[in-house]
Amino acid sequence: MSRPSYETIKLEREDRVAWIVLNRPHRLNAFNEDMILELLDALNTVEDDPGVRCVVITGEGDRAFSAGADITAFPKTTPTLAEELSRKGQKVFSTIEEMSKPVIAAINGYALGGGLELAISCDFRIASEHAELGSPEINLGIIPGWGGTQKLVRLVGLRNAKRLVFLGERIKAEEALRIGLVDKVVPFENLREETMSLAKKLSEGPPIALRYAKYALNFGSQVPLEVGLRLESALMALLFSTNDVKRGIEAFMSRSKPEFKGD
Ligand code: COA
Repeated sequence: MSRPSYETIKLEREDRVAWIVLNRPHRLNAFNEDMILELLDALNTVEDDPGVRCVVITGEGDRAFSAGADITAFPKTTPTLAEELSRKGQKVFSTIEEMSKPVIAAINGYALGGGLELAISCDFRIASEHAELGSPEINLGIIPGWGGTQKLVRLVGLRNAKRLVFLGERIKAEEALRIGLVDKVVPFENLREETMSLAKKLSEGPPIALRYAKYALNFGSQVPLEVGLRLESALMALLFSTNDVKRGIEAFMSRSKPEFKGD
């Protein structure tokens, strides 16, 4: 799977894992409109590819995952354009949350503004030791506009979200780990290997159960508990119609490792 037509990202494949690499290193992988559209296209491509079981998003180079929206375009941004861009970014990030496959952010450097919003849309975040994370939008006189104000609160609580959004300070990877903004911190030279190790584990899991688990957790956490519990029961019932549940039970009984096929 290779899409040479992309100009601002790269789409690569290693085993059952798709790597989407943000590729504007001269701008610290900041998002322009093309990159937003190409990222959306790549996400839809990997979602539709049954050979892909897990997706990783990272940035090219060792400096930045992404430094957020491309500020050089701001002087020409009208309020209408700002609203359109905000909606397009939100669309990308909700696509990640709604996709059926687990998505990992491999944070290889700065994850700022929209870069942080992208990372927190993913299901897991592994950061390089030298990475710095933050929501510096306030320093430009704006606020996070790609879901950050809403999602940071859910991830790190109101107190930490206010610190990040009101003060616009960058925090180091270890501090991000302490407040639950990332799941793991590793030396930069181990980032790919550690990410692949998690991606491999996820890609060996039962795809339909993972899809429903993601849906129940992401969607269920936004609805009243009673609705979420009903959803959980319905999804559980559906899973008992899959062959993978049979494979899982048989493997347990025979003390072997199940090979889940996603049917
Ligand atoms: N948009 C456009 N260009 C950006 C960018 C962004 N968000 N972030 C960095 N760049 C560009 C810089 O302008 C610079 O380009 P140049 O070499 O043509 O001058 C290049 O990337 C390297 O960045 P530089 O600022 O020189 O690196 P640094 O190590 O001194 O600082 C940062 C790194 C991330 C701290 C700093 O670039 C920064 O604060 N960026 C903006 C982050 C931000 O506010 N994001 C939210 C946007 S809403």
